[in-house]
Amino acid sequence: MLDRRRGGLARFVEKRGISITDTNQDTKLSRGQPPAAAQHIPGFSLTDQIAALRPELDAAWARVVDAGQFIGGPEVEALEREAAGQIGGGVAAVGVANGSDALYLALRALDVGPGDEVITTPFTFFATAGSILRTGARPVFADIDRDTFNLDPAGALARVTPRTRAILPVHLFGLMADLATMARQFPGPIVEDAAQAILASRDGRVAGAAGALGCFSFFPTKNWGAFGDGGLVAARDPELADRVRMLARHGARRKYFHEVPGINSRLDALQAAVLRVKLQHVAGWTAARQALAARYTQRFAEAGLGEWVTPQAVPRGAQHVYHQYTVRARDRDALAAHLKARGIGTTVYYPHALHLMPALAAPGVGAGAFPEAERLTQEALSLPLYPELATSAVDRVVEAVAAFYRGRA
Ligand SMILES: Cc1ncc(COP(=O)(O)O)c(C=O)c1O
Repeated sequence: MLDRRRGGLARFVEKRGISITDTNQDTKLSRGQPPAAAQHIPGFSLTDQIAALRPELDAAWARVVDAGQFIGGPEVEALEREAAGQIGGGVAAVGVANGSDALYLALRALDVGPGDEVITTPFTFFATAGSILRTGARPVFADIDRDTFNLDPAGALARVTPRTRAILPVHLFGLMADLATMARQFPGPIVEDAAQAILASRDGRVAGAAGALGCFSFFPTKNWGAFGDGGLVAARDPELADRVRMLARHGARRKYFHEVPGINSRLDALQAAVLRVKLQHVAGWTAARQALAARYTQRFAEAGLGEWVTPQAVPRGAQHVYHQYTVRARDRDALAAHLKARGIGTTVYYPHALHLMPALAAPGVGAGAFPEAERLTQEALSLPLYPELATSAVDRVVEAVAAFYRGRA
């Protein structure tokens, strides 16, 4: 069935030339792609998804426009209820303007501020560490685990000091970090950066409900994405959720009565309506992503590429939701160029480790401080993956990768 849709995608891209640009993550499908689209395998595409949902989406938008309530109101309240139900674990959910605000507000809800330290990974999108900086606290990095690409629990625990107020692991590419090991020895709060991990789970704990607070992004390219910016904070403690809501309303619980300095961070009703439509499909899309990822892994194994290409490892008990299918690849940049020349889109998440970014520079933390993260910036390559991708496209990608290394062997 997925194969059949491929023709639809090609036609849709040609006809509409819809353009989606992820400035965070450099994913691009731009207007006017050559008509050779039947052979082109984009790294990411929303065109089939939007086409399939168009009638539902049109109805949802019309509902909001007719109701005339664009900020707050029943649409946002329903989305928050439905999101909380989907995440589970008895969380309360608060819609906010984007995933970056979700992280900032979660930390503020815990009273993280100047003089505090928050431990996190250097191998993530900037927003993770940027949210710590915004509170006035200091991001303290620990290296990643070589196989899972996630924050190494032992390394994180080794960096705990009396100033450590929280640990902020990222569920990178949709694979949950090892919260259980950290929680066993760290008595403080763990804030989950679950921006890429809706529906992920590990050992029976679900992303967003496993730590004190879970932070999601609805950036359009995410597994559950809006038609613009959006984010959500999930909290097991209703008082923390209430604090997030207060902080996101300029520090006011009552209109025009401001308890603390807050910000304006709102999920708007149009985005909530889109997200409610999409929520009904997220589980199915996730299953499709998992099936495609399993095919990649199997095909790589069959091709005997183990020496050259290593997929992100999935520990036993973890349900990876594959926001990205990312491998460690030898001669990564040459491989990416080889694939590009064959019409196959790939992306490098992330080309720089955060401790080496000028915005996050800290005395004594230079090149070599976190060797695993630094090495992965040279080797990580994310391959085409979205629910509507044809299985034959996966096979073509693997064949193209195999051809590249055959040429080098
Ligand atoms: C790991 C991670 N954290 C935080 C964010 C920030 O989310 P947003 O772009 O919605 O602000 C993103 C999304 O780009 C992300 O991938």
